[in-house]
Amino acid sequence: MSIHKEQVKSALSQVIHPEYKRDLISLDLIQDLIIQEKYISFTLELPRKDERLADHLKRECTAAIHKFIDPGAVTDITVGINISRQRELDGDADNTAPASKPQPETVLGGVKNIIAVASGKGGVGKSTVAANLAVALAQTGAKVGLLDTDIYGPSVPTMFGVTERPNITTQKKLVPIEKFGVHLVSMGFLVDTDQAMIWRGPMVTSAVKQFMQEVAWGDLDYMVLDMPPGTGDIQLTIVQTVPLTGAVIVSTPQTVALDDARKGVAMFNKVNVPVLGIIENMAYFVPDDMPEKKYYIFGRHGARKLAERLEVPFLGEVPLRERVRETSDLGTPIVAAEPSSPSAIGFKEIANRVEQSLIVRNQEKEATRKIDIRIRP
Ligand SMILES: Nc1ncnc2c1ncn2[C@@H]1O[C@H](COP(=O)(O)OP(=O)(O)O)[C@@H](O)[C@H]1O
Ligand SMILES: [Mg+2]
Repeated sequence: MSIHKEQVKSALSQVIHPEYKRDLISLDLIQDLIIQEKYISFTLELPRKDERLADHLKRECTAAIHKFIDPGAVTDITVGINISRQRELDGDADNTAPASKPQPETVLGGVKNIIAVASGKGGVGKSTVAANLAVALAQTGAKVGLLDTDIYGPSVPTMFGVTERPNITTQKKLVPIEKFGVHLVSMGFLVDTDQAMIWRGPMVTSAVKQFMQEVAWGDLDYMVLDMPPGTGDIQLTIVQTVPLTGAVIVSTPQTVALDDARKGVAMFNKVNVPVLGIIENMAYFVPDDMPEKKYYIFGRHGARKLAERLEVPFLGEVPLRERVRETSDLGTPIVAAEPSSPSAIGFKEIANRVEQSLIVRNQEKEATRKIDIRIRP
């Protein structure tokens, strides 16, 4: 028997907050409810740190689920706690409801633009594009951050040659590591990748949230988000958690990658995040010994045509070149390692078009707010 969200919500609506004397669902304190077969996970939002209260509520939630849902149907319950001062409830311990008016986005107050670099497929060069885009933007004098949200396969440590661990401020915030003018944070700085492999979706989401909230990002003109491959639950939750300004989609020219890129565009459309454009990576192969040759090994102009069909901007193409891979593997993205090489110039042109696309987007639309995924009673 599969579990339904409604069942879990109705179980949690039996749990009464001891201070507010109302149930957790009507107080709107349950977020990110995810059910995967027999596994239930959600986040309990509390306005302040109170371990006793958190433990009490966790126990009550678990008990309520076991009481109201067939015990055979549930094998595992994970309750995350999110201390969110934005969720400070009105009044003190009286019966008032939580502030229902939209709260200003304070989590990343100093960050002007957040750009997700996504694709449908893995291995198409998202991380390569994200890294070089970030360095190229920094080279224009902008303040840039790069957040690697690919928890199962973080690339930033290798691509930027980071071996050290980040420092922690006295306010217990993580300090990004700066390389080539880019402020970097990656799960790979903190957790052994083998260990992260066993993480489930909800843990990934809460880690990404922490990266937004518990990192001393400071003022940034651009934050680039290197997304995990795919358009599944994890990706969807990330784009719903972060107040994205826009997304760029990376694809190679062949049909299988394009099909997935289309899904990527659809995912962002679904959550109203503007797609800033499509980048065609590995557009053609250029051998080092014959730099005048172009081999269209994955087909010709596939991503460019997709951009036209979907009526989104085409941001440019990146050739498949040995030095692009080599420089990444050696820990210095090509834009930093060989800034005047044709590949680096290609990335810089793309960065320029991303900036243009952002200007247009910011003139046409209001700032994207974090999408509200709280569960309504
Ligand atoms: N334009 C390119 N030329 C040469 N190698 C590339 C290029 N783009 C990506 N690669 C290489 O392909 C592999 C996969 O790229 P990566 O950026 O990690 O993809 P993703 O993040 O989409 O999984 C890496 O080894 C990377 O160095
Ligand atoms: Mg990657």
